[in-house]
Amino acid sequence: MTQRIVVLTGAGISAESGVKTFRDEDGLWESHHIEEVATPEGYAANPTLVEAFYNARWQQLIQGDIAANPAHIALALLEQHQDCELMLVTQNIDNLHERGGSKRVLHMHGELAKGRCPQSQQTFILNEILGPDNVCTCCIPAQKLRPHVVWFGEMPFGMDSIHQALAQCDLFIAIGTSGSVYPAAGFVDLANQVGALTLNINLAPRDDHSEFQYHWQGKASELVPQLVTDILAGHSVAHNQS
Ligand code: APR
Repeated sequence: MTQRIVVLTGAGISAESGVKTFRDEDGLWESHHIEEVATPEGYAANPTLVEAFYNARWQQLIQGDIAANPAHIALALLEQHQDCELMLVTQNIDNLHERGGSKRVLHMHGELAKGRCPQSQQTFILNEILGPDNVCTCCIPAQKLRPHVVWFGEMPFGMDSIHQALAQCDLFIAIGTSGSVYPAAGFVDLANQVGALTLNINLAPRDDHSEFQYHWQGKASELVPQLVTDILAGHSVAHNQS
């Protein structure tokens, strides 16, 4: 029987690839003010600062020695399995899921590799850094592209599809996310309400207020391949481990 699975990933799945998380020690929010670089108001006040923040992360992605890790690769394997109907939702704006082989990735917080026309909302693959010369080709006069990233106060992408998948899922798994930001942090409640099995995979121990039924503590690059092996072998994942 087809298993309907929703996976939500956060910055923790890319940490072992060398991409900084937000709220761990030395995380991005340790060295940047959210209000300045991740809000529409911050962008309006100082677009150059915001462009520099995203350009630096995008350049690290395309120039650094950043590669998909075994967790990304394992999820791509799960996607290919005919007995699993997988919706992979990521809060990450990197393209490591795609580099790991995933074909269908829902980037609910946008993508570093794209810019967006503020007028038409059309997106463009970035071949150069964001700046005054990087403009759309869909408007006259051409509009300066903004980062194709969802800022605080903006609506994430794909919410209808995500809610529809959660309403029908048998298994909801969160990987490498602190559960600090809604609406993603509320997905586990929706999954619990429909009787799905809910599992949290995180380097940190289970949080006292966690809504997840099960918690696997450890590195994503070790636990996610094990998870996929268990699912594909028909083994239960309904247990805790640390
Ligand atoms: N394996 C598994 N989990 C890990 C690993 C690892 N190797 N390294 C870190 N983690 C976990 C941390 O314990 C933490 O719970 O990943 C989580 C990272 O949390 P955050 O830095 O808060 O990142 P995330 O949950 O993705 O943030 C959500 O907040 O600022 C916004 O838009 C931003 O999409 C982001 C959202």
